[in-house]
Amino acid sequence: MKRLITTLLLAATTPLLAQQHSEQSFGYVAPKDPAVQQKLKQWQGIKFGLLMHWGTYSQWGIVESWSLCPEDEGWCERKGPYSKDWYEYKKAYEAIPQQFNPVKFNPDRWATAAKNAGMKYVVFTTKHHDGFCMFDTKQTDYKITNTPFGTNPKANVAKEVFKSFRDQGFMVGAYFSKPDWHTDDYWWSYFPPKDRNSSYAPKKYPEKWNKFKQFTYNQIEELMSDYGKMDILWLDGGWVRPFSTIDSTVSWQKTIPFDQDIDMANIAKMARSHQPGLLVVDRTVTGEYENYVTPEQSIPDKALPFPWESCMTMGDSWSYIPKENFKSTRKLIHTLVDIVSKGGNLLLNVAPGPDGEWHEEAYQRLEEIGKWMNVNGEAIYETTAVSPYQSGKWAYTQKGSTMYALYRAEEGEKLPASLEIPVLEKGQSVQLLGSKESLKSKDKTVTLSDSFRKKVKESPVYVFKLMKK
Ligand code: GLC
Repeated sequence: MKRLITTLLLAATTPLLAQQHSEQSFGYVAPKDPAVQQKLKQWQGIKFGLLMHWGTYSQWGIVESWSLCPEDEGWCERKGPYSKDWYEYKKAYEAIPQQFNPVKFNPDRWATAAKNAGMKYVVFTTKHHDGFCMFDTKQTDYKITNTPFGTNPKANVAKEVFKSFRDQGFMVGAYFSKPDWHTDDYWWSYFPPKDRNSSYAPKKYPEKWNKFKQFTYNQIEELMSDYGKMDILWLDGGWVRPFSTIDSTVSWQKTIPFDQDIDMANIAKMARSHQPGLLVVDRTVTGEYENYVTPEQSIPDKALPFPWESCMTMGDSWSYIPKENFKSTRKLIHTLVDIVSKGGNLLLNVAPGPDGEWHEEAYQRLEEIGKWMNVNGEAIYETTAVSPYQSGKWAYTQKGSTMYALYRAEEGEKLPASLEIPVLEKGQSVQLLGSKESLKSKDKTVTLSDSFRKKVKESPVYVFKLMKK
């Protein structure tokens, strides 16, 4: 992100040169395959998706996977009775599947809630760094079908999730972690792991690494051939990458000790042979296999000259914790508007619990977002970013010759009697979405009569539609 921000600062000063600069230095490579181009365009139009982090870590209500990682970082901290000894901890963690039984699992309910909120794609953790598979892989026993839930008709949960969402018209994406802290071919037990990386140097032990490559390839092939139509392969764990792609200005990348080339060309080719047009998102690696860029828990300062998506949590954490601190609906809608006005997508994370349900607050937030989207969705979907993107409380989007001015109101803030819309041009009509009246305007100022303001319902974002008369 640091590099991205530097690039953006440059972009602000010298637009043309900077655009070239940002594309070069960021390394975004536009796909050449027309089917991929087409899907990417479609994906850019749908704007709003759901991410879910779900695994056996949810049983303990802890950070996804990271407590296994022997790094001295806050998010890797171990807690609880086994925390003193890493080996004991790993053993206990890897025994969680024996208790995992999410009997309330009902992906149709999730898909309906997400759909009503206006979400149009889903990305689901098929496997996180801990290596536990939420799908019925043949490559390992460390998987959902090998738990007490294994006898449930919906035991192959990834398949069920994809099906439920696809049935509701969603684009479907598989989150898949390239690193795998369970298989002996990544954290080889001969060498204790020191950090998130493989515990051995792949160049020195090519057979071991080749086995790992094959294992990864096979798992991805299962997901791409047995799980219905897939639109996105969202690959996490950016330290598994060729050495040559490391960006030494990014602190976590600087510490990658060796080449961990997983042969993305081969994986992408195989994946697209099963799923033509598949979007491949090899996060942070940049280049041909990162079809869009994915800032995490952050929103770029400015519109970016390539497709992008911010992934963000609805609460504070990616995975389930018993007491989650949910963001307000207003905050979530403002976030969506901020992102869309800069040309991006929002992938909003909700975390299922060990019983297979979401917190009730998650449903409430989605319902409220849906109410706003029902009225204002036309200012979101299929829009493009338009200069000046934002000014003060205003954010802008565009569709054809129509421009939308989105006023981000604070809690309790009512619409004033007159409002200046900085981008309003002579000869444009002004309408507030949700009402049919054409509003009076002079120069850049619209007048809102008392009777009109009384009728207008309070909203986190008021959307004015500006059209050529
Ligand atoms: C962070 C977390 C990782 C999570 C990811 C989602 O990188 O460390 O566990 O999967 O965000 O974007």
